[in-house]
Amino acid sequence: MSSIVTIIDNDILVPTLQKGLYALAACSIIGTAAYLGYKAAEPENKNILQNRNPELNERIETVLESLRLGDDSLRQIMQLLEQEMDTGLSPATHAKADVKMFPTYVRNIANGSETGQVLALDLGGTNFRVLLVNLLPQGEVRLTSKIFVIPQSIMLGEGVNLFHHLADCLVDFMKQEKLNQPGVHYPLGFTFSFPCHQEGLASARLTSWTKGFTCAGVVNEDVVKMLQKAIDEKNINVQCVALVNDTVGTLMACAYKKPHTSIGLILGTGTNACYMETLDRVGTWNGDYEEPKQVIVNMEWGAFGNNNRLNHVRTRFDEEVDLSSVNPGKQIFEKMISGMYMGEIVRLIILDLMQQDLLFIGQCDNYGDYRIPLFIRGGFYTKFVSTVETDEGIAFSNTRRVLQDMGIRNPTYDDCAIVQHICKNVSKRAARLAGAGLAVLINRINKPQITVGVDGSLYRYHPRFKRNMEKCIKNLVNKNIKFEISLSDDGSGIGAALTVAAEVLSCQSDKNSSDKQKPKQRRRSHV
Ligand code: BGC
Repeated sequence: MSSIVTIIDNDILVPTLQKGLYALAACSIIGTAAYLGYKAAEPENKNILQNRNPELNERIETVLESLRLGDDSLRQIMQLLEQEMDTGLSPATHAKADVKMFPTYVRNIANGSETGQVLALDLGGTNFRVLLVNLLPQGEVRLTSKIFVIPQSIMLGEGVNLFHHLADCLVDFMKQEKLNQPGVHYPLGFTFSFPCHQEGLASARLTSWTKGFTCAGVVNEDVVKMLQKAIDEKNINVQCVALVNDTVGTLMACAYKKPHTSIGLILGTGTNACYMETLDRVGTWNGDYEEPKQVIVNMEWGAFGNNNRLNHVRTRFDEEVDLSSVNPGKQIFEKMISGMYMGEIVRLIILDLMQQDLLFIGQCDNYGDYRIPLFIRGGFYTKFVSTVETDEGIAFSNTRRVLQDMGIRNPTYDDCAIVQHICKNVSKRAARLAGAGLAVLINRINKPQITVGVDGSLYRYHPRFKRNMEKCIKNLVNKNIKFEISLSDDGSGIGAALTVAAEVLSCQSDKNSSDKQKPKQRRRSHV
């Protein structure tokens, strides 16, 4: 079992020493200065460490040990996930599956030849975006977008109000962009990042809300119909042609640039993955079996564990986060990984250590009024985890700032080191769980070269998530597969537009071939 002493040795003293040594090799004067600097820092460190009771360190480690998942645990989780995937794909067992594995009706990945102008709506969290995507020749994309906020009252209110709000924002954006030419028909792609049972490219029933949304009257309804109704009431010439999950958008947008892309991953407020599956493995598929015999499957892996399959690795902090959420018992895997919950897990561990008198020692009485953010549910944002983990060395300036914002007035060096240590353990577990999930997909696709398109704030802004995840995947994937993880910029918006473009183009080419037999009047389209 490692102790806080080892952690501080590894993470702080070693880089400091290394820096001193490099400097010594380069120039003896700078080297001497670095050495003196190190010497100056050393006694303080050593004193703090010496002052800390090793038994306290052991007790901190006992709490954090529950978060550590070795490769063997991850391999076992991978097996469970693969079983769940098969359960979701089989019509006989789909109803009881955690991981629903919804076929998306997207069967071709973008190839860079798609062109045209498409509107897109991107709803997946508290921010909502309207985009105008211009797909130009040679894979060039020009994009204009506007962000709107979804107020809490709408997130938790009546569903019809949500769709009215989306339509209002769309009208506002179209006015701004002067998209009101009479007679022009504007195709629209809707990125709707919640679990949906799709019945076609433009038909999808919401199965449950996630990420804090609870709008009434939408579950089991066709969200494309609800959106279209709200749009039609505005008298604008916009037709929703495709609904895509953000993972699918991310896969499509990445494939536009990188042809080996076959997985889309989101690590943001929520988490989920999709991948290209062969039709003979998708028992629930009810479309045609023409070429290409494949379809993108939206896994909805956030729900893995809903039927208690992950109980053996969940901690009491995970249970607490779940119980106080708006959807207890749901999205268990997501709650161990994604940005909506990570900060809260850290906060609960901090409180636990405070209660055991292992952190902010001797200061807890100062915080007795329970009004400081540290005591408020959701008060420790996930972005703070990233901020704390960007600190390298012994100054802990970011960590201090975060703790002060949380209401801890004078955190000591030890307090900062321990809080950073908690953050590292929580984010590393999340990265390793996501890595194990990806490894299942990479092994299942089993092609010599695989690109994973990824997007989301956690992946983008956390300083080590990417590194920890990649390191873990390397140990878990078959050695013959080369994989690459590629950040997919604006994937969820561009991907929806690409899906629309591909759909409209294929309809036009179908129409063209039937037009040859029976001439018909063509509608002017913006694609
Ligand atoms: C949703 C998914 C979505 C993911 C990432 C989850 O909560 O269920 O549909 O892809 O968040 O946004």
